[in-house]
Amino acid sequence: MSHFVIRGGNRLEGEAGIQGAKNSVLPILAATLLTADQVELRGCPRLRDVDASIRILEGLGCTARWEEENTLTVDARGLSGCAVPEALMREMRSSAIFLGAILARCGQAELSYPGGCELGPRPIDLHLSGLRDLGAEIDDAGGVLHCKAPRLQGREIVLSFPSVGATENLMLAACGASGVTTIAGAAQEPEIVDLQRFLTACGARVSGAGTSTVSVEGGRPLHGCTYMIMPDRIVAATYLCAAASAGGEIVLRRAREEHLSTVTAALREAGCSIRSGEEGLACVCRGRLKAVRPVRTAPYPGFPTDAQAILMAALLKCRGAAVFEENMFSSRYRHVDELGRMGADIRVSGRTAVVTGVEHLHGAPVRCTDLRGGAALCVAALAAEGETEVSETGHIDRGYEDIARDLRALGAEIVRAGD
Ligand code: UD1
Repeated sequence: MSHFVIRGGNRLEGEAGIQGAKNSVLPILAATLLTADQVELRGCPRLRDVDASIRILEGLGCTARWEEENTLTVDARGLSGCAVPEALMREMRSSAIFLGAILARCGQAELSYPGGCELGPRPIDLHLSGLRDLGAEIDDAGGVLHCKAPRLQGREIVLSFPSVGATENLMLAACGASGVTTIAGAAQEPEIVDLQRFLTACGARVSGAGTSTVSVEGGRPLHGCTYMIMPDRIVAATYLCAAASAGGEIVLRRAREEHLSTVTAALREAGCSIRSGEEGLACVCRGRLKAVRPVRTAPYPGFPTDAQAILMAALLKCRGAAVFEENMFSSRYRHVDELGRMGADIRVSGRTAVVTGVEHLHGAPVRCTDLRGGAALCVAALAAEGETEVSETGHIDRGYEDIARDLRALGAEIVRAGD
Protein backbone atom coordinates (compact mmCIF):
# COMPACT_ATOMS: atom_id res chain seq x y z
CA MET A 1 0.00 0.00 0.00
CA SER A 2 1.50 3.34 -0.94
CA HIS A 3 1.66 6.33 1.36
CA PHE A 4 2.89 9.90 1.19
CA VAL A 5 5.57 11.36 3.39
CA ILE A 6 5.18 15.12 3.67
CA ARG A 7 7.56 17.47 5.45
CA GLY A 8 5.69 20.63 6.30
CA GLY A 9 6.87 24.18 6.76
CA ASN A 10 8.05 25.05 3.22
CA ARG A 11 6.51 28.09 1.63
CA LEU A 12 5.21 27.11 -1.78
CA GLU A 13 6.62 28.66 -4.89
CA GLY A 14 6.19 27.40 -8.42
CA GLU A 15 3.88 26.57 -11.23
CA ALA A 16 1.72 23.54 -12.01
CA GLY A 17 -0.71 22.61 -14.76
CA ILE A 18 -4.25 21.52 -13.91
CA GLN A 19 -5.35 18.08 -15.13
CA GLY A 20 -8.61 17.42 -16.98
CA ALA A 21 -11.69 17.18 -14.77
CA LYS A 22 -12.59 13.79 -13.31
CA ASN A 23 -16.25 14.69 -12.97
CA SER A 24 -16.34 15.77 -16.58
CA VAL A 25 -14.47 12.86 -18.15
CA LEU A 26 -16.53 10.12 -16.43
CA PRO A 27 -19.89 11.08 -17.99
CA ILE A 28 -18.13 11.83 -21.28
CA LEU A 29 -16.65 8.32 -21.30
CA ALA A 30 -20.17 6.95 -20.79
CA ALA A 31 -21.36 9.27 -23.60
CA THR A 32 -18.87 7.72 -26.05
CA LEU A 33 -21.26 4.74 -26.11
CA LEU A 34 -23.82 6.88 -27.92
CA THR A 35 -21.72 7.01 -31.08
CA ALA A 36 -20.99 4.01 -33.27
CA ASP A 37 -17.76 5.77 -34.08
CA GLN A 38 -14.36 6.78 -32.74
CA VAL A 39 -13.87 9.56 -30.20
CA GLU A 40 -10.56 11.17 -29.25
CA LEU A 41 -10.45 12.70 -25.78
CA ARG A 42 -7.62 15.13 -25.10
CA GLY A 43 -6.59 16.34 -21.68
CA CYS A 44 -7.95 13.06 -20.31
CA PRO A 45 -6.66 12.62 -16.74
CA ARG A 46 -5.06 9.27 -15.87
CA LEU A 47 -7.01 8.25 -12.81
CA ARG A 48 -8.23 5.10 -11.12
CA ASP A 49 -11.85 6.05 -11.93
CA VAL A 50 -10.93 6.56 -15.59
CA ASP A 51 -9.30 3.10 -15.66
CA ALA A 52 -12.48 1.64 -14.14
CA SER A 53 -14.60 3.36 -16.82
CA ILE A 54 -12.31 1.99 -19.53
CA ARG A 55 -12.78 -1.53 -18.14
CA ILE A 56 -16.57 -1.04 -18.26
CA LEU A 57 -16.35 0.15 -21.89
CA GLU A 58 -14.12 -2.79 -22.82
CA GLY A 59 -16.49 -5.20 -21.07
CA LEU A 60 -19.25 -3.88 -23.33
CA GLY A 61 -17.17 -4.60 -26.45
CA CYS A 62 -15.65 -1.15 -27.06
CA THR A 63 -11.94 -0.54 -27.44
CA ALA A 64 -9.98 2.19 -25.67
CA ARG A 65 -6.36 3.10 -26.26
CA TRP A 66 -4.03 5.70 -24.77
CA GLU A 67 -2.39 7.46 -27.71
CA GLU A 68 -0.09 9.63 -25.67
CA GLU A 69 0.11 10.79 -22.07
CA ASN A 70 -3.37 12.35 -21.90
CA THR A 71 -5.08 11.43 -25.15
CA LEU A 72 -7.50 8.53 -25.05
CA THR A 73 -9.23 7.08 -28.11
CA VAL A 74 -12.48 5.21 -27.55
CA ASP A 75 -14.09 3.22 -30.32
CA ALA A 76 -17.66 2.16 -29.59
CA ARG A 77 -18.30 0.57 -33.00
CA GLY A 78 -17.97 -2.95 -31.60
CA LEU A 79 -20.45 -2.52 -28.74
CA SER A 80 -21.77 -6.01 -28.16
CA GLY A 81 -23.10 -6.16 -24.60
CA CYS A 82 -25.48 -4.24 -22.40
CA ALA A 83 -24.59 -5.66 -18.96
CA VAL A 84 -21.98 -4.30 -16.53
CA PRO A 85 -20.68 -6.93 -14.09
CA GLU A 86 -21.07 -6.19 -10.38
CA ALA A 87 -17.31 -6.13 -9.69
CA LEU A 88 -16.87 -3.26 -12.18
CA MET A 89 -19.89 -1.40 -10.79
CA ARG A 90 -18.35 -1.56 -7.33
CA GLU A 91 -14.99 -0.20 -8.50
CA MET A 92 -16.40 3.21 -9.27
CA ARG A 93 -18.98 5.24 -7.35
CA SER A 94 -20.40 6.92 -10.41
CA SER A 95 -20.82 3.81 -12.58
CA ALA A 96 -24.61 4.41 -12.66
CA ILE A 97 -23.86 7.07 -15.28
CA PHE A 98 -23.53 4.22 -17.83
CA LEU A 99 -27.20 3.33 -17.48
CA GLY A 100 -28.65 6.13 -19.62
CA ALA A 101 -26.09 5.69 -22.40
CA ILE A 102 -26.41 1.88 -22.60
CA LEU A 103 -30.21 2.16 -22.68
CA ALA A 104 -30.09 4.79 -25.41
CA ARG A 105 -27.78 2.74 -27.60
CA CYS A 106 -29.01 -0.84 -26.90
CA GLY A 107 -32.62 -0.50 -25.70
CA GLN A 108 -31.79 -2.54 -22.62
CA ALA A 109 -29.26 -2.54 -19.76
CA GLU A 110 -28.33 -4.63 -16.76
CA LEU A 111 -26.37 -3.10 -13.91
CA SER A 112 -26.05 -3.87 -10.23
CA TYR A 113 -27.03 -1.15 -7.75
CA PRO A 114 -24.04 1.13 -7.13
CA GLY A 115 -24.72 1.05 -3.36
CA GLY A 116 -23.30 3.43 -0.76
CA CYS A 117 -19.83 4.94 -0.43
CA GLU A 118 -17.54 6.65 2.08
CA LEU A 119 -19.69 9.79 1.99
CA GLY A 120 -22.90 7.98 2.98
CA PRO A 121 -25.76 6.47 0.97
CA ARG A 122 -25.75 7.24 -2.76
CA PRO A 123 -29.35 6.74 -3.89
CA ILE A 124 -30.17 6.82 -7.62
CA ASP A 125 -33.95 7.17 -7.30
CA LEU A 126 -33.91 10.41 -9.34
CA HIS A 127 -31.97 8.71 -12.15
CA LEU A 128 -34.46 5.83 -12.21
CA SER A 129 -37.65 7.88 -12.04
CA GLY A 130 -36.40 10.14 -14.86
CA LEU A 131 -35.58 7.12 -17.02
CA ARG A 132 -39.02 5.68 -16.28
CA ASP A 133 -40.52 9.02 -17.38
CA LEU A 134 -38.76 8.50 -20.73
CA GLY A 135 -40.43 5.09 -21.03
CA ALA A 136 -37.87 2.71 -19.56
CA GLU A 137 -39.15 -0.32 -17.67
CA ILE A 138 -36.88 -0.88 -14.70
CA ASP A 139 -37.02 -3.85 -12.37
CA ASP A 140 -34.71 -3.21 -9.42
CA ALA A 141 -35.36 -6.29 -7.34
CA GLY A 142 -32.43 -8.12 -5.70
CA GLY A 143 -29.83 -5.39 -6.10
CA VAL A 144 -29.72 -5.72 -9.91
CA LEU A 145 -31.31 -3.22 -12.27
CA HIS A 146 -32.92 -4.88 -15.27
CA CYS A 147 -33.88 -2.09 -17.67
CA LYS A 148 -35.75 -2.29 -20.93
CA ALA A 149 -36.58 0.53 -23.29
CA PRO A 150 -37.11 -0.58 -26.84
CA ARG A 151 -38.30 2.98 -27.56
CA LEU A 152 -37.46 5.95 -25.36
CA GLN A 153 -39.81 8.90 -25.80
CA GLY A 154 -38.74 12.46 -25.00
CA ARG A 155 -40.86 14.48 -22.55
CA GLU A 156 -40.55 16.91 -19.65
CA ILE A 157 -38.82 15.56 -16.54
CA VAL A 158 -38.78 17.52 -13.30
CA LEU A 159 -35.96 16.77 -10.87
CA SER A 160 -36.92 17.42 -7.25
CA PHE A 161 -33.22 18.01 -6.43
CA PRO A 162 -30.53 19.17 -8.90
CA SER A 163 -28.57 15.90 -8.89
CA VAL A 164 -25.46 16.08 -11.07
CA GLY A 165 -25.45 12.37 -11.93
CA ALA A 166 -29.19 12.23 -12.64
CA THR A 167 -29.02 15.28 -14.92
CA GLU A 168 -26.14 13.71 -16.87
CA ASN A 169 -27.72 10.26 -17.05
CA LEU A 170 -30.96 11.74 -18.38
CA MET A 171 -29.12 13.90 -20.94
CA LEU A 172 -27.47 10.73 -22.27
CA ALA A 173 -30.68 8.71 -22.35
CA ALA A 174 -32.51 11.62 -23.99
CA CYS A 175 -30.04 11.57 -26.90
CA GLY A 176 -31.51 8.17 -27.77
CA ALA A 177 -35.15 9.17 -27.23
CA SER A 178 -37.36 10.37 -30.02
CA GLY A 179 -38.60 13.95 -29.68
CA VAL A 180 -37.61 16.61 -27.20
CA THR A 181 -36.71 15.95 -23.56
CA THR A 182 -36.69 18.85 -21.13
CA ILE A 183 -34.99 18.37 -17.77
CA ALA A 184 -36.33 20.98 -15.33
CA GLY A 185 -34.60 21.45 -11.97
CA ALA A 186 -31.35 20.32 -13.61
CA ALA A 187 -27.96 20.61 -11.91
CA GLN A 188 -25.93 23.55 -13.26
CA GLU A 189 -22.35 22.39 -12.64
CA PRO A 190 -19.66 23.34 -15.22
CA GLU A 191 -19.16 19.61 -15.90
CA ILE A 192 -22.72 19.49 -17.27
CA VAL A 193 -21.82 22.29 -19.66
CA ASP A 194 -18.77 20.24 -20.68
CA LEU A 195 -20.98 17.21 -21.34
CA GLN A 196 -23.28 19.37 -23.48
CA ARG A 197 -20.26 20.63 -25.44
CA PHE A 198 -19.06 17.08 -26.02
CA LEU A 199 -22.50 15.88 -27.14
CA THR A 200 -22.83 18.89 -29.45
CA ALA A 201 -19.41 18.10 -30.96
CA CYS A 202 -20.81 14.62 -31.73
CA GLY A 203 -23.79 16.14 -33.53
CA ALA A 204 -26.39 16.10 -30.73
CA ARG A 205 -28.83 18.97 -30.20
CA VAL A 206 -28.53 19.89 -26.53
CA SER A 207 -29.08 23.31 -24.99
CA GLY A 208 -29.51 24.96 -21.62
CA ALA A 209 -26.65 23.28 -19.71
CA GLY A 210 -25.45 25.64 -17.00
CA THR A 211 -29.05 26.75 -16.33
CA SER A 212 -31.78 24.85 -14.47
CA THR A 213 -33.45 23.65 -17.69
CA VAL A 214 -31.65 21.40 -20.17
CA SER A 215 -33.27 20.43 -23.48
CA VAL A 216 -32.28 17.55 -25.72
CA GLU A 217 -33.65 16.92 -29.17
CA GLY A 218 -33.06 13.19 -29.39
CA GLY A 219 -33.03 10.53 -32.03
CA ARG A 220 -30.19 11.93 -34.13
CA PRO A 221 -27.34 9.61 -35.07
CA LEU A 222 -24.16 10.82 -33.34
CA HIS A 223 -20.71 10.77 -34.86
CA GLY A 224 -17.19 10.75 -33.42
CA CYS A 225 -15.17 13.85 -32.55
CA THR A 226 -11.99 15.12 -30.96
CA TYR A 227 -12.68 16.80 -27.65
CA MET A 228 -10.64 18.57 -24.96
CA ILE A 229 -11.78 17.88 -21.38
CA MET A 230 -12.21 20.99 -19.18
CA PRO A 231 -9.71 21.61 -16.35
CA ASP A 232 -10.55 20.13 -12.95
CA ARG A 233 -11.89 22.91 -10.69
CA ILE A 234 -11.56 20.82 -7.52
CA VAL A 235 -7.91 20.00 -8.23
CA ALA A 236 -7.33 23.74 -8.82
CA ALA A 237 -9.12 24.49 -5.52
CA THR A 238 -6.87 21.95 -3.79
CA TYR A 239 -3.65 23.61 -4.94
CA LEU A 240 -4.95 27.11 -4.11
CA CYS A 241 -5.75 25.80 -0.62
CA ALA A 242 -2.28 24.23 -0.46
CA ALA A 243 -0.75 27.69 -1.07
CA ALA A 244 -3.13 29.21 1.49
CA SER A 245 -2.16 26.57 4.03
CA ALA A 246 1.62 26.72 3.58
CA GLY A 247 1.87 30.34 2.41
CA GLY A 248 3.63 31.21 -0.84
CA GLU A 249 3.21 32.29 -4.38
CA ILE A 250 1.98 29.89 -7.07
CA VAL A 251 0.63 29.85 -10.62
CA LEU A 252 -1.89 27.24 -11.78
CA ARG A 253 -1.92 26.92 -15.54
CA ARG A 254 -5.34 26.20 -17.13
CA ALA A 255 -7.22 26.89 -13.86
CA ARG A 256 -10.38 28.93 -14.50
CA GLU A 257 -11.69 31.21 -11.83
CA GLU A 258 -15.24 31.33 -13.18
CA HIS A 259 -15.59 27.67 -12.17
CA LEU A 260 -14.48 28.16 -8.59
CA SER A 261 -15.49 31.65 -7.61
CA THR A 262 -17.00 30.60 -4.26
CA VAL A 263 -13.67 29.01 -3.30
CA THR A 264 -11.58 31.98 -4.45
CA ALA A 265 -13.97 34.35 -2.63
CA ALA A 266 -13.40 32.45 0.63
CA LEU A 267 -9.63 32.43 0.13
CA ARG A 268 -9.60 36.17 -0.61
CA GLU A 269 -11.63 36.77 2.51
CA ALA A 270 -9.02 34.76 4.42
CA GLY A 271 -6.31 37.12 3.13
CA CYS A 272 -4.97 35.50 -0.06
CA SER A 273 -4.53 37.51 -3.20
CA ILE A 274 -5.70 35.68 -6.34
CA ARG A 275 -5.36 36.98 -9.86
CA SER A 276 -7.00 35.47 -12.89
CA GLY A 277 -5.25 35.83 -16.23
CA GLU A 278 -4.73 34.29 -19.66
CA GLU A 279 -2.36 31.68 -18.30
CA GLY A 280 -4.58 30.58 -15.40
CA LEU A 281 -4.65 31.64 -11.77
CA ALA A 282 -1.91 33.24 -9.69
CA CYS A 283 -2.21 33.07 -5.91
CA VAL A 284 -0.15 34.84 -3.24
CA CYS A 285 -0.64 34.06 0.45
CA ARG A 286 1.41 35.72 3.18
CA GLY A 287 1.06 35.65 6.95
CA ARG A 288 -1.62 34.05 9.06
CA LEU A 289 -5.03 33.61 7.44
CA LYS A 290 -8.19 35.15 8.89
CA ALA A 291 -11.32 33.13 9.62
CA VAL A 292 -14.01 33.42 6.96
CA ARG A 293 -17.78 33.76 7.10
CA PRO A 294 -19.73 30.46 7.35
CA VAL A 295 -19.11 28.14 4.43
CA ARG A 296 -22.27 26.27 3.40
CA THR A 297 -22.05 23.58 0.75
CA ALA A 298 -24.78 23.67 -1.89
CA PRO A 299 -25.41 22.69 -5.50
CA TYR A 300 -23.58 24.86 -8.06
CA PRO A 301 -23.21 27.85 -8.08
CA GLY A 302 -23.02 27.35 -4.30
CA PHE A 303 -19.88 26.28 -2.45
CA PRO A 304 -18.84 22.81 -3.73
CA THR A 305 -19.07 19.97 -1.24
CA ASP A 306 -15.93 18.55 -2.88
CA ALA A 307 -13.93 21.57 -1.67
CA GLN A 308 -15.27 21.56 1.91
CA ALA A 309 -12.56 19.36 3.49
CA ILE A 310 -9.84 21.08 1.48
CA LEU A 311 -10.74 24.63 2.53
CA MET A 312 -11.18 23.42 6.11
CA ALA A 313 -7.61 22.07 6.03
CA ALA A 314 -6.31 25.43 4.78
CA LEU A 315 -7.98 27.27 7.67
CA LEU A 316 -6.75 25.12 10.56
CA LYS A 317 -4.29 27.83 11.66
CA CYS A 318 -6.54 30.80 10.93
CA ARG A 319 -7.07 33.68 13.33
CA GLY A 320 -10.53 33.15 14.85
CA ALA A 321 -13.10 30.44 14.14
CA ALA A 322 -14.62 29.29 10.86
CA VAL A 323 -17.95 27.49 10.58
CA PHE A 324 -18.71 24.88 7.92
CA GLU A 325 -22.13 23.47 7.08
CA GLU A 326 -22.23 20.31 4.94
CA ASN A 327 -25.56 20.06 3.16
CA MET A 328 -24.88 17.54 0.38
CA PHE A 329 -23.62 14.31 1.95
CA SER A 330 -24.31 12.81 5.38
CA SER A 331 -20.82 11.46 6.15
CA ARG A 332 -18.52 14.11 4.87
CA TYR A 333 -16.59 14.99 8.02
CA ARG A 334 -14.57 11.79 8.27
CA HIS A 335 -11.33 13.72 7.72
CA VAL A 336 -11.95 15.70 10.92
CA ASP A 337 -10.58 13.06 13.32
CA GLU A 338 -7.49 12.65 11.17
CA LEU A 339 -6.89 16.43 11.13
CA GLY A 340 -7.28 16.31 14.92
CA ARG A 341 -4.25 14.01 15.11
CA MET A 342 -2.21 16.86 13.64
CA GLY A 343 -3.37 19.24 16.36
CA ALA A 344 -6.42 20.79 14.65
CA ASP A 345 -9.28 22.04 16.84
CA ILE A 346 -12.54 21.07 15.10
CA ARG A 347 -15.90 20.39 16.74
CA VAL A 348 -18.57 18.61 14.73
CA SER A 349 -22.27 18.66 15.56
CA GLY A 350 -24.57 17.21 12.92
CA ARG A 351 -24.06 19.11 9.67
CA THR A 352 -21.89 21.77 11.29
CA ALA A 353 -18.16 21.83 11.96
CA VAL A 354 -16.46 24.66 13.81
CA VAL A 355 -12.74 25.13 13.20
CA THR A 356 -10.95 27.18 15.83
CA GLY A 357 -7.58 28.25 14.48
CA VAL A 358 -4.53 26.93 16.32
CA GLU A 359 -1.01 28.39 16.32
CA HIS A 360 0.74 25.14 15.46
CA LEU A 361 0.04 21.88 13.68
CA HIS A 362 2.37 18.93 14.01
CA GLY A 363 3.13 16.03 11.70
CA ALA A 364 1.41 12.71 12.54
CA PRO A 365 0.49 9.41 10.93
CA VAL A 366 -2.92 9.94 9.31
CA ARG A 367 -5.19 7.87 7.07
CA CYS A 368 -7.22 8.94 4.03
CA THR A 369 -10.91 8.29 4.59
CA ASP A 370 -12.11 9.38 1.14
CA LEU A 371 -10.87 11.19 -1.97
CA ARG A 372 -11.19 14.87 -0.96
CA GLY A 373 -10.68 14.13 2.73
CA GLY A 374 -7.36 12.56 1.72
CA ALA A 375 -6.36 15.63 -0.29
CA ALA A 376 -7.25 17.76 2.74
CA LEU A 377 -4.74 15.80 4.86
CA CYS A 378 -2.00 16.68 2.34
CA VAL A 379 -3.02 20.36 2.44
CA ALA A 380 -2.87 20.39 6.26
CA ALA A 381 0.46 18.51 6.34
CA LEU A 382 2.09 21.32 4.35
CA ALA A 383 1.48 23.66 7.28
CA ALA A 384 2.48 21.18 10.00
CA GLU A 385 5.83 21.09 11.74
CA GLY A 386 7.72 17.87 11.04
CA GLU A 387 6.75 14.86 9.04
CA THR A 388 3.27 13.57 8.22
CA GLU A 389 2.70 10.11 6.86
CA VAL A 390 -0.54 9.93 4.87
CA SER A 391 -1.67 6.32 4.33
CA GLU A 392 -4.38 4.73 2.15
CA THR A 393 -3.61 7.13 -0.67
CA GLY A 394 -5.56 4.95 -3.15
CA HIS A 395 -8.53 7.19 -2.35
CA ILE A 396 -6.58 10.23 -3.61
CA ASP A 397 -5.54 8.39 -6.79
CA ARG A 398 -9.21 8.12 -7.76
CA GLY A 399 -9.26 11.83 -8.51
CA TYR A 400 -5.70 13.23 -8.73
CA GLU A 401 -3.32 12.13 -11.49
CA ASP A 402 -0.31 12.67 -9.27
CA ILE A 403 -0.84 15.01 -6.34
CA ALA A 404 2.75 14.45 -5.12
CA ARG A 405 4.20 15.46 -8.52
CA ASP A 406 2.06 18.60 -8.62
CA LEU A 407 2.75 19.68 -5.05
CA ARG A 408 6.49 19.11 -5.59
CA ALA A 409 6.30 21.34 -8.69
CA LEU A 410 4.83 23.96 -6.34
CA GLY A 411 7.77 23.60 -3.95
CA ALA A 412 6.39 21.15 -1.37
CA GLU A 413 8.41 18.31 0.15
CA ILE A 414 6.28 15.27 -0.56
CA VAL A 415 7.24 11.78 -1.72
CA ARG A 416 5.25 8.66 -2.43
CA ALA A 417 6.64 5.61 -0.68
CA GLY A 418 5.84 1.92 -0.41
CA ASP A 419 4.46 1.19 -3.89
C1 UD1 B 1 -21.35 14.45 -8.29
C2 UD1 B 1 -19.84 14.44 -8.27
C3 UD1 B 1 -19.33 14.49 -6.82
C4 UD1 B 1 -19.95 15.67 -6.08
C5 UD1 B 1 -21.47 15.67 -6.21
C6 UD1 B 1 -22.13 16.88 -5.61
C7 UD1 B 1 -19.31 13.16 -10.25
C8 UD1 B 1 -18.72 11.93 -10.84
N1 UD1 B 1 -19.36 13.24 -8.91
O1 UD1 B 1 -21.78 13.26 -7.64
O2 UD1 B 1 -17.91 14.62 -6.86
O3 UD1 B 1 -19.60 15.59 -4.71
O4 UD1 B 1 -21.84 15.61 -7.61
O5 UD1 B 1 -21.65 18.04 -6.18
O6 UD1 B 1 -19.66 14.08 -10.96
N2 UD1 B 1 -29.35 12.14 -4.59
C9 UD1 B 1 -30.55 11.48 -4.34
N3 UD1 B 1 -31.10 10.72 -5.34
C10 UD1 B 1 -30.51 10.58 -6.56
C11 UD1 B 1 -29.28 11.24 -6.80
C12 UD1 B 1 -28.73 12.02 -5.79
O7 UD1 B 1 -31.10 11.58 -3.26
O8 UD1 B 1 -31.07 9.87 -7.42
C13 UD1 B 1 -28.73 12.95 -3.51
C14 UD1 B 1 -27.37 12.37 -3.08
O9 UD1 B 1 -27.53 11.39 -2.10
C15 UD1 B 1 -26.65 13.58 -2.55
C16 UD1 B 1 -27.17 14.71 -3.44
O10 UD1 B 1 -28.38 14.22 -4.03
O11 UD1 B 1 -27.02 13.84 -1.23
C17 UD1 B 1 -26.21 15.16 -4.51
O12 UD1 B 1 -25.90 14.07 -5.33
P1 UD1 B 1 -25.53 14.23 -6.87
O13 UD1 B 1 -25.59 15.64 -7.29
O14 UD1 B 1 -26.31 13.23 -7.64
O15 UD1 B 1 -24.02 13.79 -6.84
P2 UD1 B 1 -23.29 12.77 -7.78
O16 UD1 B 1 -23.71 12.96 -9.20
O17 UD1 B 1 -23.37 11.41 -7.21
